[in-house]
Amino acid sequence: MYLTVRDATKTYGTFTALDRVSIGIEKGEFVCLLGPSGCGKTTLLRLIAGLADLDGGEITLDGANLSHLPARKRGFGIVFQSYSLFPNMTVAENIGYGLKIRGAARAEIVARVADLLELVKLPQVADKLPGQLSGGQQQRIALARAIAVDPRVLLLDEPLSALDAKVRAELRDEIRQVQRALGIPTLMVTHDQEEALALADKIICMNHGVVVQVGTPEDLYHRPVTRFVAEFMGTSNLLSPDDVGQLFPDLLATRPGAARAHLACIRPEQIDLVPDADGAATVRSINFLGNLRRLEVDSPVGVLTVETHGVNPCRTGDRVSLRVAPEACTWVIDDEAPAKSIQSGAVPA
Ligand SMILES: Nc1ncnc2c1ncn2[C@@H]1O[C@H](COP(=O)(O)OP(=O)(O)O)[C@@H](O)[C@H]1O
Ligand SMILES: [Mg+2]
Repeated sequence: MYLTVRDATKTYGTFTALDRVSIGIEKGEFVCLLGPSGCGKTTLLRLIAGLADLDGGEITLDGANLSHLPARKRGFGIVFQSYSLFPNMTVAENIGYGLKIRGAARAEIVARVADLLELVKLPQVADKLPGQLSGGQQQRIALARAIAVDPRVLLLDEPLSALDAKVRAELRDEIRQVQRALGIPTLMVTHDQEEALALADKIICMNHGVVVQVGTPEDLYHRPVTRFVAEFMGTSNLLSPDDVGQLFPDLLATRPGAARAHLACIRPEQIDLVPDADGAATVRSINFLGNLRRLEVDSPVGVLTVETHGVNPCRTGDRVSLRVAPEACTWVIDDEAPAKSIQSGAVPA
């Protein structure tokens, strides 16, 4: 690992914001730190950047301990959510700032700024002030400023979250292109699972100040380890073993040992829906979403969400039968019991 964080702990008074968090980033890797608001993402990024002090644990870069190195000596580039440019400096002065304080020659700065403006596709704005640019343009300039000094690691804290959907999607792809072109190891904080799925080589999923799962986007979507990850990474049908036994008995064979409570996680697109006058389920509603249809289906154990592509064979009120291939079911640890989305089962007396 190039950058490592080992057992990082951070407390604010009696509140533990990070509890023995360990993560790593390889050279050239694009890593997304994903989790709900308040789970500790920014805190972890600030510790790595050197903007806050660890209460425990250690951070190393290329084998060297960084824990006591001040932020300006870490050689990291940082982009925050918004409004981080110096408002009274031109775009060119903003981008060249880091080079200037390192004593680079004027001609070198001018040339480098011109290259970076090309790289972020804004060659015409060198003499403008940040306030004259759109939010998306300001974030491109913030990215150019962060990479101007050839950072050893790029740290991005929700750089897209203040932008509207279309600009967000464009800039997301461009951040990835720039990162690939330059090969800078990057840690990007986001609370948006789609963004993380689209961008990351590796996703680190956090909740309540701890890391809950690390893996590729495919791992987190298709092989979530806990109920929290399953629910956070998109829509899922979470069924108790009893429910599974009623609806899809052949899936029970894939159930792990019963040391902990498990739920079956079945993604909506993994359920095959077949019109069947004798079927045990009924189509309750159909939502047309362009590239797919999302159906709510009443089953003997409660409402399931099903997604279908292509021609939809049924209408509201139709009877259907449901099928799931054994490999399409993932058993997850129920870390948020008591289950709330399971409609069947015994009601406690
Ligand atoms: N300076 C601080 N003082 C007290 N509590 C803080 C401070 N900074 C963050 N926190 C708390 O730590 C938790 C994690 O915050 P943060 O890292 O900003 O979360 P995220 O970026 O994932 O939304 C939150 O509950 C937040 O209120
Ligand atoms: Mg944050």
